[in-house]
Amino acid sequence: MTATPEAPTAYRASILHFLADPGADDAAASWQYFEDGLLVVEHGKVVSTGDAATLLPGLSLATRVIDHSGKLIVPGFVDTHIHYPQVDVIASPGRQLLDWLEDYTFPAERRFDDPAYGRAVADFFLDELLRNGTTTALVFGTVHKQSVHAFFEAASAKNLRMIAGKVLMDRNCPEYLRDTPESGYADSAELIAQWHGRDRLHYAITPRFAITSSDRQLELAGKLAAEHPTTRIHSHLAENTAEVAWTRELFPACRSYLDVYDHFGLLREHSVFAHCIHLDETDRRRMAAAGATAALCPTSNLFLGSGLFDIAAMDQAGMNFAIATDVGGGTSFSMLRTLSEAYKVAQLRGHFLSPLRAFYTATLGGARALGLETNIGNFAPGKDADFVVLDLAATPLTARRLQHARTLQEKLFALIMLGDDRAITQTCILGRPVLPH
Ligand code: GUN
Ligand code: ZN
Repeated sequence: MTATPEAPTAYRASILHFLADPGADDAAASWQYFEDGLLVVEHGKVVSTGDAATLLPGLSLATRVIDHSGKLIVPGFVDTHIHYPQVDVIASPGRQLLDWLEDYTFPAERRFDDPAYGRAVADFFLDELLRNGTTTALVFGTVHKQSVHAFFEAASAKNLRMIAGKVLMDRNCPEYLRDTPESGYADSAELIAQWHGRDRLHYAITPRFAITSSDRQLELAGKLAAEHPTTRIHSHLAENTAEVAWTRELFPACRSYLDVYDHFGLLREHSVFAHCIHLDETDRRRMAAAGATAALCPTSNLFLGSGLFDIAAMDQAGMNFAIATDVGGGTSFSMLRTLSEAYKVAQLRGHFLSPLRAFYTATLGGARALGLETNIGNFAPGKDADFVVLDLAATPLTARRLQHARTLQEKLFALIMLGDDRAITQTCILGRPVLPH
């Protein structure tokens, strides 16, 4: 563990964070914006945030002020669904989900039986997240428990708040990637004992999707979830029509795809299901009642031709959603680019995703989905000081466009539409800059 700074540090910049979901109509009490703001940090935690003019006179003499005037500080981005072993298959063309898994993904995941390989990929992956301003993610490993040991070791060395899990898959996939119900249960239990709650790390029980797990495996996953109620549950749901049809064949007694997870005790608060495109109204209401979250993955859905999620229908059912990159089905690590595609998907559905709500979903909304609201997501005193310094003029075009932005909303919108990793000036973990940008 790296030591946190001794003296308090105050970061001066424009500051934006959220206290609640702005909803479809941008509720005014849900966000705070300080045009000339200060974020005060000590021992890796937020001490206070507010207007610089108000806070500066009260700072102790020991406080170091770091001036990022003209830039925008927001809480670190939260990516609610991503696969670290798929770094090397990002941008593999030409297939929809089930073929893409067979042709590209499964062969790539095979290599993670080697822990040294896993560690090297995990280090690259985490650096790439940080370069893009993402400080927390919910992460798939592979079927190999050593892939998750390697990931947690890498995340621990960088002092990050991360959630990950070993994939459970015992059928309908290559022989070389299969576990068994019993080995999957035992390996997951071992990882939970070693990592869940250690440093800033948490475990997610991770059945790949209904198709690749037998009834017995899902039953044991549900048993594990009941035995470890603070673990998260992480899977895929209703992404692709061929996948939905196959699931129906495999589980004829279940009312729907979601009902498979529900039946085996895998639907609960802080269950996160990636995609959730092909759900019906009953499913959405059931998700809402359980307090589970849909991780919406727009770049992946467009890339794999999976379909268009329906934010308005989710809102109507009172169902949580958050945003995710889904690398390597997704095509970018950047949450800004991902929000831009989410906006366009919403447009195709006749829904307006406001820039304020978009930033909420990528920060506090993601933290809530992952059950991490007490630790991260905004600048409430005592939270981990994981944050991003955004450059509103990172490229000539952004600089030019932002000169003409009249309101905060317009600025945020242009940042989402035009921004990417070049907009991330600095990423700070526990109050310390980590980017050699
Ligand atoms: N469904 C099951 N496995 C996967 C995966 O690796 N990526 C995506 N996008 N969907 C899946
Ligand atoms: Zn995925």
